[in-house]
Amino acid sequence: MDNRPIGFLDSGVGGLTVARELMRQLPHEEIVYIGDSARAPYGPRPAEQIREFTWQLVNFLLTKDVKMIVFACNTATAVAWEEVKEALDIPVLGVILPGASAAIKATRAGNVGVLGTPMTIQSDIYRQKIQDLSPETQVLSLACPKFAPLVESNSHQSSLAKKVVYETLGQLKGKVDTLVLGCTHYPLLRPIIQNVMGQGVKLIDSGAECARDISVLLNYFEINHSRTAEKKGHKFYTTASPAAFREIAESWLGSVIDVEHVTL
Ligand code: DGL
Repeated sequence: MDNRPIGFLDSGVGGLTVARELMRQLPHEEIVYIGDSARAPYGPRPAEQIREFTWQLVNFLLTKDVKMIVFACNTATAVAWEEVKEALDIPVLGVILPGASAAIKATRAGNVGVLGTPMTIQSDIYRQKIQDLSPETQVLSLACPKFAPLVESNSHQSSLAKKVVYETLGQLKGKVDTLVLGCTHYPLLRPIIQNVMGQGVKLIDSGAECARDISVLLNYFEINHSRTAEKKGHKFYTTASPAAFREIAESWLGSVIDVEHVTL
């Protein structure tokens, strides 16, 4: 047993899609979440800057005495996960491997699409991980630089969002039977993405897949939160406005949350 919280990091609110899955799958666990909304999106930034920001988020979480860190951000996973994992003596999980494995399992015709931020797509990491495991699978990758800002500005249900998703995904239509949402912000756009791609396309939420892996690791290291121990409650931190963060978070998580501003 280990009653310390699990640390989550993201460039902003996207990692909430992973946190929600964790809360659903493992209701006894406690979360400390940091979202760097003041500097989001990370996707168009140079790798060196993403690396520096990610380390700041990691170091912040370490001050909260977390027992595990989840990179609830594909972009940070693509750039800095390997390095952080090597450097820390607690488990560090990323969202990319779980998403890649789930896509291989799901595809019937061997045609997988991957959506991500410019950095995630440029890193080519999804294609590499998918083809390492399944060399015959074809991967079509597409950067969607306009998607994360729509979510950060709470416009993911707007008519603008529908227009942007429709225009961006047109080139993938009919070409893939499985589509990886390779950015944790994208599950908030899921109904629109599904509608544009058609009901026959299987969408893979890499965050939800990652939550299943967290459960496996907690069991493996025997560091689950005790079911009977007192809980302090989840804690959320943002580098931007707590009110804006709270609005998106509470509607996505369906519960009232404790959120505080932090300067890194
Ligand atoms: N949520 C992030 C991801 O999964 C990053 C979005 C961004 O800041 O560009 O890639």
